Amino acid sequence: MKILVIGGGGREHALAWKIRQSRSVEELFCSPGNAGIAEIADCPPLASSDPEAVAAFVARQGIDLTVIGPELPLVQGIADKIQAIGRAVFGPIAGAAQLEGSKVFSKQFMTRHGIPTGKYEVFEDADAALAYVQDHGAPLVVKADGLAAGKGVFMCETTDQARDAIQKLMVHKAFGGAGKRIVVEELLVGREASFFAITDGSRVIPLVTCQDYKRAHDYSKGPNTGGMGSYSPALHIDRELTATVLEDIVGPTIRGIATEGYPYRGVLYVGLMLTEDGPKVLEYNCRFGDPETQVILPRLKSDLVPLLSAAAHGDLSSVRVEWRREAAVCVTLASHGYPGHYQKGKKIADLELYANRSDIVLFHAGTRTGPGGDVRTAGGRVLGVTALGKSIADARSRAYDAVANLSFQGMQFRHDIAEGVDETVGKTVEE
Ligand code: AMP
Ligand code: GLY
Repeated sequence: MKILVIGGGGREHALAWKIRQSRSVEELFCSPGNAGIAEIADCPPLASSDPEAVAAFVARQGIDLTVIGPELPLVQGIADKIQAIGRAVFGPIAGAAQLEGSKVFSKQFMTRHGIPTGKYEVFEDADAALAYVQDHGAPLVVKADGLAAGKGVFMCETTDQARDAIQKLMVHKAFGGAGKRIVVEELLVGREASFFAITDGSRVIPLVTCQDYKRAHDYSKGPNTGGMGSYSPALHIDRELTATVLEDIVGPTIRGIATEGYPYRGVLYVGLMLTEDGPKVLEYNCRFGDPETQVILPRLKSDLVPLLSAAAHGDLSSVRVEWRREAAVCVTLASHGYPGHYQKGKKIADLELYANRSDIVLFHAGTRTGPGGDVRTAGGRVLGVTALGKSIADARSRAYDAVANLSFQGMQFRHDIAEGVDETVGKTVEE
């Protein structure tokens, strides 16, 4: 098979790394890729924001399966374009990707299909939103409707903060069209959990459990980031909770979006709040998580390609998935200042130490190959250091041992990834 992966972060390196191990792969492309991906795939410079250009490449090269990493091209309809030329694509069509692309759509969808989520109101007018806040009082969560790179959600403890958020989104248009409509939502209290499932539009295969860390600094201080680390399995998502989420949330979502005319072929990522009244949906994402993929895929024993391909072709019925018993921990190495301003172009030392280790994988995110063939930083999140071990604690210590041997100027990372998660593997939900 000829396979194309779209994207160039740690998630896409993990996808390309696992796809490369499949016997069915003859040629692997990844666009735009990064320095790590370039070692295992051809990286043509396609504009992922131009679905027509990607579809033209798929047609020209005879690509059998295209795997879309990030949400933006999905929301823009890249899967529709590739399906239209009769080629398989892993990732939902634009109609289904609205679950991530529009918070208004996703909240109203959940109401239509009886899926548990926080109470909310939708506003298209700043004055009406401000009046609602005045009446209702805080705490509240204010959300931009459209994609805003994870920055369009405001947790407001006071009515002043809620007013500021509304002004920022609707009056000052800080996120342009993404804030034309907003959702004002009740603040849910509980522990957060993520849930991933692969679907062909009707059947569902849940992935192993995992947990990411979003804040920049140790003990969840500092600003939100795309993800500073992750671990798998996450045993707070036990069998009973998994069954509830599949029955009350994932099943109705997949059936609901199909009945609305948009069969979902790809991975559905549900962000949950585990409240006293049971799990409630905070958000849907229409793609794999980053850095969750960097702990999920190293634990996958079976071949990834038949799984992605069967979902893309709309028939998961004959796919069986096997997982390794080992736990995985991923520590993100970031550039100093991330998620704010940071410098690029720093040389990364000693990557070759981990070239042939079965228990450690270095997933590149923001990296590029420098003029002399050395590897340089090229983004905020630079590397994901994933380790496998017989328990979370074992994987954690292996990951941090590797981190201690790697360096670049201004390297920043969290020291508390998977700390205190002392569950050993052996009674994980997937076994
Ligand atoms: P979202 O993009 O909607 O998932 O929001 C990003 C983050 O904001 C979530 O991961 C939660 O930490 C938080 N969040 C969003 N909505 C709520 C809510 N209704 N109650 C509490 N926290 C929320
Ligand atoms: N780790 C969070 C995300 O992928 O959105």
